[in-house]
Amino acid sequence: MILVIGSYNVDYFVVVEDLPKPGETVRALRTFSAHGGKGSNQAVSARRLRGDVALVSAVGDDSSGKTALEFWRNEGLEVKWVKVKTGIPTGKAIIFVDVRGRNMIVVEPGANYALKPEDVGDSLEWGNVLLTQLEIPEETVKYALNEFDGLKILNPAPARLKDYSVLELADILTPNEVEATELAGTNEVSLAAERLAKKSRLATVVTLGDRGVLVVTREGKRFRFDALKVEPVDETGAGDVFNAALAVFLDKGLELEEAVRRANAIAGISVTSYGALGPTWEEVERFMHTTGSRLFEP
Ligand code: RIB
Repeated sequence: MILVIGSYNVDYFVVVEDLPKPGETVRALRTFSAHGGKGSNQAVSARRLRGDVALVSAVGDDSSGKTALEFWRNEGLEVKWVKVKTGIPTGKAIIFVDVRGRNMIVVEPGANYALKPEDVGDSLEWGNVLLTQLEIPEETVKYALNEFDGLKILNPAPARLKDYSVLELADILTPNEVEATELAGTNEVSLAAERLAKKSRLATVVTLGDRGVLVVTREGKRFRFDALKVEPVDETGAGDVFNAALAVFLDKGLELEEAVRRANAIAGISVTSYGALGPTWEEVERFMHTTGSRLFEP
């Protein structure tokens, strides 16, 4: 069972030929809105891979908050610990995506920043794996990591911390390369992974986009997997899907190396369509069937 504590945003996507530069006006090829926020993306993506998932999040008492709750229930998440915050709007994100799948994201946190330690208290008895990120107050993340008794995964995204000791509370850290280099204070990804691995209790897993994933364990063992060879349409949420799949496979009892290998493949499938959510288990099987790739035994 997987407990996800994190954010929800309504994502407003703007698809453009090229990402705008400061002062430039560009034409949108299309626009659409979707459910987003790293916490929600990770919870829903884990559920779609047949994980048993509870989400702790905060939304506003507005129509977006109501729609989010309805969406989570339809996806089959446990939402009894979701908080509805009066007088604060639900979080929003504006996401520009170019035709090569690269993105730029701006977030207005809204209710996400009102998710306090006292809001998550009861949920911490539930689940074997905790998955959390940094789009909610740092004190809440710290409290959850301190109190949860099970495997703890911290996706340090976005990489903004007042107190770096939070990193030492997680068993597994899963930054992308920008976050890893920022948190470790070096431009060298490999060195950043090594430094962060020494802080984490078990390992640090750095997602490298189209270059795959690098893992360094606390004892210094390293392994790496290449990214799946696909034509990317939208890389938004690929890290969220990776984290979701990692939590699902670790919750099933797989060894870290095999869990990372599978999660990397599933994150690869997710960039072949728009939006920040991952594929269902059936879609993963269909992908393997139509491309003839045996990513793993289902
Ligand atoms: O990781 C992608 C997510 O980051 C988007 O869904 C957006 O809401 C921001 O939280």
